[in-house]
Amino acid sequence: MTMASDPQADSGAMSEAAFTAISQLARSEAGLVLPPGKATMVQSRLRKRLHQVGLKDLEAYARFVCSEEGVSERRYMISALTTNVSHFFREAHHFKILRDLVFPELIDRARAGGRVRIWSAGCSSGQEPYSIAMALLSAAPDMAQRDVLILGSDIDPNMIQFAEEATYSDQQVAGIEKDVRSNYMTPATQGGFTVTPQVRKIVRFRELNLLGPWPMRGQFDIIFCRNVVIYFDQQTQAGLWPRFHGALVPSGWFFIGHSERISDASVHLYQSVGQTAYRAVPAGL
Ligand SMILES: C[S@@+](CC[C@H](N)C(=O)[O-])C[C@H]1O[C@@H](n2cnc3c(N)ncnc32)[C@H](O)[C@@H]1O
Repeated sequence: MTMASDPQADSGAMSEAAFTAISQLARSEAGLVLPPGKATMVQSRLRKRLHQVGLKDLEAYARFVCSEEGVSERRYMISALTTNVSHFFREAHHFKILRDLVFPELIDRARAGGRVRIWSAGCSSGQEPYSIAMALLSAAPDMAQRDVLILGSDIDPNMIQFAEEATYSDQQVAGIEKDVRSNYMTPATQGGFTVTPQVRKIVRFRELNLLGPWPMRGQFDIIFCRNVVIYFDQQTQAGLWPRFHGALVPSGWFFIGHSERISDASVHLYQSVGQTAYRAVPAGL
């Protein structure tokens, strides 16, 4: 581990004690696991915050976030430490399952006056919930006039703000099929593309820590929680699978990231329907 032995020196490295304090806080606040191998990443990401709050080195920053006065800074510390990589229509096989297996029944229900609720948990900068919305509207454009809502949530307030603004660079939209992009995005004055009001109408965003309470009313027909729990320790992951099951309607659909797996103690709650795609086994079965 490349850490400074002199805790007072702002040499670019931080003391082992400061790193330990920060990583323990990241784990208790957000479930994030930061092994010693990530020390350099942690240092470079926190350096910006250090200057913004006017502290001289990472030791002082670690003392501050761990103190009572630093409680409100923890939100920004977590924001700096999260990995927010995302792209439109990531893991195309999940969108095929949506189109072929999931949407037909939900579209029928919405057209019959029923309610459809979808949750993208850990949505980062919004590409995931917007991709779901675009896929749904491509299958049935009238869904914008039905009782359909897609919730995108993330612990990172900066990501939620970006997602609400709904404008993406040329590079960020490069992976979207041409006709989907021309139907659901318009060129933005400052460059890039903005998601259309038709799509935005069925997508809502909210800051939410998955380790805290989930105050949403009602259950979800579909939950996407992809490439999020991979950053959590095993115990945190194990606690989330039953919670997601409880947040799904009976036989609701659940999608996780390609390198994630449901903990052994919860596999009985989910029936596999494809690569990292599941249906919630109804309680009592
Ligand atoms: C790599 S992104 C995944 C984005 C999207 N789901 C995808 O697959 O493209 C992981 C996101 O999880 C969020 N995250 C990390 N810890 C969280 C927590 N405790 N509660 C809610 N979101 C969290 C991060 O802020 C980040 O935006």
